[in-house]
Amino acid sequence: MQVAIDGPAGSGKSTVAKLVAERLGFLYIDTGAMYRALTLKAMREGLPLDDEDQIAELLERTRLELKSGPQTRVFLDGEDVSEAIRLPDVNRGVSAVAALGKVRQGLVMLQQEMAKGHVVMDGRDIGTVVLPQAEVKVFLTASLKERARRRALELQSRGIEVSQEEAEAQLALRDKLDESREIGPLKKADDAYLLDTTDLTIGQVVEEILSLCKKAMEA
Ligand code: CDP
Repeated sequence: MQVAIDGPAGSGKSTVAKLVAERLGFLYIDTGAMYRALTLKAMREGLPLDDEDQIAELLERTRLELKSGPQTRVFLDGEDVSEAIRLPDVNRGVSAVAALGKVRQGLVMLQQEMAKGHVVMDGRDIGTVVLPQAEVKVFLTASLKERARRRALELQSRGIEVSQEEAEAQLALRDKLDESREIGPLKKADDAYLLDTTDLTIGQVVEEILSLCKKAMEA
């Protein structure tokens, strides 16, 4: 069984997807972490983030691994980059890399290979492109204001001070880039269940998705 969770930045996908996977005993795959790790490597090598051929070539000589479990971890060529990929520089650069067609082609293939078996996968194009056959599809949203509040809190917990206004501006820009790209844009699949999390707790969102999964399993 496959569970696809998509939505804009700060909608709570990763937190919720991870908890749903734990409850179901499924593998959790954070596809955003893959785009982020590749972006981090490109930045370290000083590559222009919009150079499709150079970044596609970089991907060919890159090893990406995700460890699921109580502590999800992301490895870039064997190095644990779980913290580094959440830094503001990567937040700002990742949408440029994610807009490159050859990069998406490579990562989507990798994600489809990883999705053999029971999985919960989160991202932007999971229900539309990566796992169009997923039994459960959810599109999470929340108001921009609430998403910015969550992101500012998340960054503060990592010791990075960012105002709510700044967080709001950055999220809005990233959403715009993600929605407007030609390949695999951020978009709700026609058959995805739309869930607005603005006034919901994490626990409520998890329960709602679990009940969708239960229904799908019974069907
Ligand atoms: O956690 P947050 O919602 O801020 O972002 P993320 O899920 O880690 O994704 C980071 C970025 O990767 C997004 O802004 C997209 O540009 C890109 N991404 C994508 O293009 N396709 C995916 N399936 C997942 C992420």
